[in-house]
Amino acid sequence: MSSTVITNIATLVTNDPSLGDGSPLGLIQDAALVIDGDRIAWTGESSKAPATDNRVDAGGRAVLPGFVDSHSHLVFAGDRTQEFNARMSGRSYSAGGIRTTVAATRAASDEELEANLTRYLAEALRQGTTTFETKSGYGLTTQDESRALRIAAAHTDEVTYLGAHIVSPDYADDPAGYVALVTGEMLDACAPYARWIDVFCEKGAFDGDQARAILTAGKARGLHPRIHANQLSYGPGVQLAVELDAASADHCTHLTDADVDALAGSRTVATLLPGAEFSTRAEWPNARRLLDAGATVALSTDCNPGSSFTSSVPFCIALAVRDMGMTPDEAVWSATAGGARALRRDDIGRLSPGARADLITLDAPSHVHLAYRPGVPLVTGVWRRGVRQA
Ligand code: NIG
Ligand code: FE
Repeated sequence: MSSTVITNIATLVTNDPSLGDGSPLGLIQDAALVIDGDRIAWTGESSKAPATDNRVDAGGRAVLPGFVDSHSHLVFAGDRTQEFNARMSGRSYSAGGIRTTVAATRAASDEELEANLTRYLAEALRQGTTTFETKSGYGLTTQDESRALRIAAAHTDEVTYLGAHIVSPDYADDPAGYVALVTGEMLDACAPYARWIDVFCEKGAFDGDQARAILTAGKARGLHPRIHANQLSYGPGVQLAVELDAASADHCTHLTDADVDALAGSRTVATLLPGAEFSTRAEWPNARRLLDAGATVALSTDCNPGSSFTSSVPFCIALAVRDMGMTPDEAVWSATAGGARALRRDDIGRLSPGARADLITLDAPSHVHLAYRPGVPLVTGVWRRGVRQA
């Protein structure tokens, strides 16, 4: 195993408040960082860096933990350009559009699905995402859901079973029958490939009682819950997430004061997905309200062909700062350490000794430029497990 020091870092984001300026981002100016094998071995001021086998000059750039995208839907085929066009002409978004992608995904071969997945992963990696979660949910049969998860599991440890995305069109007249399938035979086939179980708890998808039954069945099989909650309307999703100690309640666009308080008093992370509000022309989630109440907030892309077809975490950071009341520091924390919390991981999302060496360099002197220079491809270098990828 060889060691490498990266020197001449203008701003290093460690996300360790015991380091540097003592803020949540643990910022160190004029910094260096040592990678030993796949881990971070040392961080500190450049002048104090220890000797190593290799040396990389960051050229006065910023270094951050790689982005942790804790919510995406990347196993799919087809696209929904027409639906997007119709929305931008005034049509509103509904859960029903998912059916279009279900039909295209069922018709695709394993090879096509995997080629699609790897294409979007490469796209995300170039933009600084070093860990991603992804879900099934566009198959909705035992065979199609389990193959989506098998394909996903070859590319990430963070795999989520979302058989309960919508009621399968094959069960349009028998939603209870579909819930029985999702909690029975389909769960048996999917559990071996997944770490998480998710439900789209929303009008037109699954109500609170159905969601509770599905997540409870998953828990009994060793899958941990996360929930699509309160995206399109007020509803029981957030309260259910807290009740079941879900790792994350995702979307959180329509929240009552009681929902905000419940999140603030829990371990459940509020994962905000501004790409979805952008691409559906919907009201922004209020990150400021959640942060001021003391809730933990993560930011992710929700990358999917319907409601949010972006793989760019920097784009989501810029939206969160401009339109959701977050400071640049908060948004960067939420897209790195916050994503790690939403996946209940402590080995990623930070750059302090012992953490995984997943990091990015920006062609900018600080992380603030991610919001200050929206739409500019600032990520110039990506290391994953200590190996330079891009
Ligand atoms: O997170 N909300 C449910 N699922 C996705 C959208 C899926 C789709 O429209 O294809 C979401 O926004
Ligand atoms: Fe989603």
